[in-house]
Amino acid sequence: MAVAIVLVLIVVASVLFNFLNPWWFTPLASNWGQMDLTLIITLWISGIVFVAIALFMAYAVFRYRHQKGRRAAYEPENRKLEWWLIGLTSVGIVIMLIPGLYVWAEFVNVPKDALSVEVVGQQWQWSFRFPGKDGVLGRTDARLISAENPFGLHTGNPFGQDDVLVKSGDLHLPLGKPIKVLLRSKDVVHDFYVPHFRVKMDAVPGLVSGLWFTPTKTGTFEIACAEYCGVGHHTMRSRVVVEEEGAFQAWLNEQPTLAQALNEGAAETGDPLVNQGRKLAQDQGCLACHSVDGSPGAGPTWKGLYGKTETLADGSTVVVEEEYLKESIVNPGAAVVKGYDPLMPPYRLSSEELDALIAYTKALSEEG
Ligand code: CUA
Repeated sequence: MAVAIVLVLIVVASVLFNFLNPWWFTPLASNWGQMDLTLIITLWISGIVFVAIALFMAYAVFRYRHQKGRRAAYEPENRKLEWWLIGLTSVGIVIMLIPGLYVWAEFVNVPKDALSVEVVGQQWQWSFRFPGKDGVLGRTDARLISAENPFGLHTGNPFGQDDVLVKSGDLHLPLGKPIKVLLRSKDVVHDFYVPHFRVKMDAVPGLVSGLWFTPTKTGTFEIACAEYCGVGHHTMRSRVVVEEEGAFQAWLNEQPTLAQALNEGAAETGDPLVNQGRKLAQDQGCLACHSVDGSPGAGPTWKGLYGKTETLADGSTVVVEEEYLKESIVNPGAAVVKGYDPLMPPYRLSSEELDALIAYTKALSEEG
């Protein structure tokens, strides 16, 4: 009797939770309303089956409870019942599968006029590349990826010269235009997911995967990594800003093209120690978590860091200078700045390399 009551209570509580809980889909901001419909159909069918089975169990537990003198009848086969169950299960599965096949057929059929955007994942940040004026993304090769060439572009490829590179910061997209996202990963499997757009796809090292959508609302939406990719997985976030065509073009024009980035690299002069530090920061992956332009990351930005007074996790304060920076690189867990997770692994660098990195952070703070 008690078991039957518990089963009924579980059913009632589950149904109430479904209708009363505050966690539901984020507002839709793309053309993929059909994804929601598909999920809701699946939810209704599995919900109805769950309620029916649990209530039947409660009924059977109550109806056939132990009674003196009553014996169970042995009935190993019941052809008629089996056919009914096979038939009903098949109908349920077909109703759940068919909408998914319809949506998938559309999902793999990318509109011809779609704007291509490349999204590259790495531990733990996203970077973006637009094809530029010619509309064609330049060729890449994973073997060419380096500190100076984070996208691994064939720098001599004519289609690549006008490619627009967005190494950190937000991804801007125009409203109402189909967007074809091409995904690459530099290290492990990541997953590009914008909950408001309803589409997600793994970024797998060694291959180019993709998805498409049409943004239908202006606004700023979260890009989340939806595949566990190491200790910094939860910090692998970015933002997509959907705006009117004009505002989007204005933003795009401000981003550096490959040709401009190459010129800048060639024109690089100044203190060799600072240059060594900059290269080291890229090679060691520091910049995945520490920005150099003041934008937020998994760790404090390096812009303006040197000489700043930081509050540590234990509430004490420290002036950021050489000794503190050196300790933070060699033994990062010792004094974590308040508001940040203790994610950073210890780095083994020579004292010359430490000096170079510190010279670089110093330079970033002097630029103003
Ligand atoms: Cu990238 Cu999780």
